[in-house]
Amino acid sequence: MPRSTGIPAHIAIIMDGNGRWAQKRGLSRSEGHCAGTRTAKDIVTRCRELGVRHLTLYTFSRENWSRPKDEIGLIFDLLVQYLRGELQNLVEQDIHLAVLGEMADLPFAARQALSLVMQKTADCRTMTLNLALNYSGREEILRAARALAAKNLPPEAITETAFADELYTKGQPDPDLIIRTSGELRLSNYLLFQAAYAEFYFTDTLWPDFDAAELERALADYAGRQRRFGRTGEQLPA
Ligand code: IPE
Ligand code: IPE
Ligand code: MG
Repeated sequence: MPRSTGIPAHIAIIMDGNGRWAQKRGLSRSEGHCAGTRTAKDIVTRCRELGVRHLTLYTFSRENWSRPKDEIGLIFDLLVQYLRGELQNLVEQDIHLAVLGEMADLPFAARQALSLVMQKTADCRTMTLNLALNYSGREEILRAARALAAKNLPPEAITETAFADELYTKGQPDPDLIIRTSGELRLSNYLLFQAAYAEFYFTDTLWPDFDAAELERALADYAGRQRRFGRTGEQLPA
């Protein structure tokens, strides 16, 4: 039976469960986010070593603005620390940083740190690290629709390709594998257009506990899948 080929070109992760991880240990949610940031750092390096070309991390959804102000502040402080601490590593690992989401609404320090890292890694080609920040899949689709409308194109020119070119992921392949930690079985407004034919992997592991061994389990599971894209099993190459 044909199997999906090896390492996914694009992995997208919904890093969920920081709060519950902390709660289980009698720690504050902040400590959960700190631990989650350490996991993110390790998983970026591991994906790069494994030859993943695009990694997307759901870092902050547009809906996450409804969380307590202190928690939001802490999440962006951690982001800034991560970016400052990792700049050199990202450059050395040849990892290009990109943002999916509306950057203008982010705190100033976060915008500044992101702009610097994006600028310094602009020529890096081995892997693209997308941080979904202030991200909403529906908003991304509406934004693309508005951009196309503003071009006054004839209706037949609005193709899937033309549409995809107006998304934050322009020029990048769709995710092959979407991983969600913490046992939740939902997309939470993540990559709605791009997820059309993604394979899903759900694990009860909370994000701070998601390590290289867990990643390998997800990849082994993915490698055993049959991706059909609408065809019958018999139509697929052996
Ligand atoms: C994911 O962990 C991090 C963000 C959404 C920013 P959560 O903070 O959602 O953790 P739980 O779901 O409350 O356990
Ligand atoms: C999704 O997690 C967003 C991120 C991981 C950044 P949430 O914890 O916000 O998702 P819901 O609210 O449980 O769906
Ligand atoms: Mg959550």
